[in-house]
Amino acid sequence: MQEDPINEQTGEEEDFPYRTEFKKKSIRSYVIRAGRMTEGQRRAFDNYWGPYGLSLFDGSIDPKEVFGREAPVVLEIGFGMGDSLLEMAKAEQDKDFIGIEVHPPGVGRLINNAGKEELKNLRVYMADAVDVLNDCIADGSLDRFQLYFPDPWHKKKHQKRRIVQPEFVKLLCNKLKPGGLMHMATDWENYAEQMLEVLEAETMLENTAGKGNYAPRPEFRPQTKFERRGERLGHGVWDLLYKKK
Ligand SMILES: C[S@@+](CC[C@H](N)C(=O)[O-])C[C@H]1O[C@@H](n2cnc3c(N)ncnc32)[C@H](O)[C@@H]1O
Repeated sequence: MQEDPINEQTGEEEDFPYRTEFKKKSIRSYVIRAGRMTEGQRRAFDNYWGPYGLSLFDGSIDPKEVFGREAPVVLEIGFGMGDSLLEMAKAEQDKDFIGIEVHPPGVGRLINNAGKEELKNLRVYMADAVDVLNDCIADGSLDRFQLYFPDPWHKKKHQKRRIVQPEFVKLLCNKLKPGGLMHMATDWENYAEQMLEVLEAETMLENTAGKGNYAPRPEFRPQTKFERRGERLGHGVWDLLYKKK
């Protein structure tokens, strides 16, 4: 089979027109891996990017217009291959879900599965989540935010790349409605401690499990792919569940 030429600088396949969207910044919480997509994932973009894809460069969205109804809005950052987000969107059809992920094969997989199931309550950005939060999501518009098993960047010199930092949590708090939920989980103890420290210090938040405590896994969160991987490696799991005051 003839392979598509790969751009040596970006690692992107040159005849594939769908690109991860981001703005210039010095520290990123991810690296975009040059990975070939399966034929099915590529086809998914042609079939389903239209109904499911949103663009960073279209600016601020009104979820009522996007979903054609008024319903609670859940935002997930870094859905990976998307299986757990798909499961949640199917299980909670009374809510509208927006997923953000930079990894094209995961986006392809999620929209393919959502399209086959004709799911109406899901949209995705293939973009840097911080850029999307800044440019596309209105303050006070989210009912729930979720971040599951973010990249732990365990080497000390890489820890500035961890997405959970005081400034990021403040940005998220501004996007939540009063009473909205902020849910994070990790299988990396040192990152769990960092999350706890940052979330406890944010005055807009209240810990639903009591000050300084991790929470039991809420019913609405299915096991994720990375969680299963962590479990195989003998890692623990820490959930953190806060409410905006
Ligand atoms: C370790 S994986 C976890 C995936 C999934 N949540 C799970 O539990 O299986 C973290 C994911 O976050 C994505 N990611 C990291 N930083 C991001 C950002 N700034 N915007 C969007 N996605 C991001 C990565 O591409 C990666 O797929």
